[in-house]
Amino acid sequence: MFDSVAVIGAGTMGNGIAQTFAAYGARVLLVDVSEDALAKGRKAIEGSLARVVKKGTLTEADAQATIGRIQSSSKLESITDVPLVVEAVVERADVKAKVFSQLDRQCPAHTILASNTSSISITAIAASTKRPDKVIGMHFMNPVPIMKLVEIIRGQETSDETTAHIVAASESIEKVPVAANDFPGFVSNRVLMPMINEAVFCLMEGVSTREGIDTVMKLGMAHPMGPLALADLIGLDVCLDIMEVMHSGLGDDKYRPCPLLRRYVAAGRLGKKSGKGFYEYA
Ligand code: NAI
Repeated sequence: MFDSVAVIGAGTMGNGIAQTFAAYGARVLLVDVSEDALAKGRKAIEGSLARVVKKGTLTEADAQATIGRIQSSSKLESITDVPLVVEAVVERADVKAKVFSQLDRQCPAHTILASNTSSISITAIAASTKRPDKVIGMHFMNPVPIMKLVEIIRGQETSDETTAHIVAASESIEKVPVAANDFPGFVSNRVLMPMINEAVFCLMEGVSTREGIDTVMKLGMAHPMGPLALADLIGLDVCLDIMEVMHSGLGDDKYRPCPLLRRYVAAGRLGKKSGKGFYEYA
């Protein structure tokens, strides 16, 4: 559907989004302010493709072709004439506003600007541009190459045409789009994050051990993984940011981030990506 796409942010989500579009034939420009993040992102893509080749569902030639379609850059200015930009930078409203305002100035009028934000208002992000009708939420799930869902969030001014393009683009990469309205956390995180946060409260209060809490949710509720292991996969900093956005955006103390979550983030225990969260990783 889109033959070229720019993806901003080469972290957990950005590299998965870049890999997925490239796997379906799009030329991808992956942009990150950090050269280190770009190198790590490329390594993650190579590792992910190698696992699929090992499973026998992708040929080595197709994996190489996918990698060959991904270019990288540390400069936002290198994004020029692409029909779609997907932003996946850190979950901070000020950072996203800055990125969107610059993209709006440098991209042609037809470019759709999508955000992978987990919780920040699409309407607010769109307000930092002069094309709010072409700004939309395209919320992928982690790990992107595997998870089928894309939550599509319409801001106040998002047009029907933009929505139709993004629905079609999601389907063209074999994802299932589900529409949601622009409220903090949308559907996915409005339901998921309070559960994770409550699991951290259970750990802090000594209701059970990390293994105990995760096992209850796996065996008792048939969840594929426990909430603490899932928080480690998502990133504890990302979980905290989302809880903060829901707490302030919905104004209800039931979204108060657990102090233990804050303490772990302050200590640099961010989960899998930092090697240590609720669990330790090699
Ligand atoms: P991450 O921390 O792994 O990666 C963020 C990347 O953005 C970093 O590499 C950083 O260098 C880069 N960056 C920061 N400022 C930038 C700028 N101004 N220009 C270009 N690059 C910049 O974060 P992650 O987990 O990939 O999250 C990215 C977005 O995706 C967030 O909005 C998050 O809420 C959302 N998200 C995260 C999910 C998860 O499971 N981690 C799931 C779904 C959405």
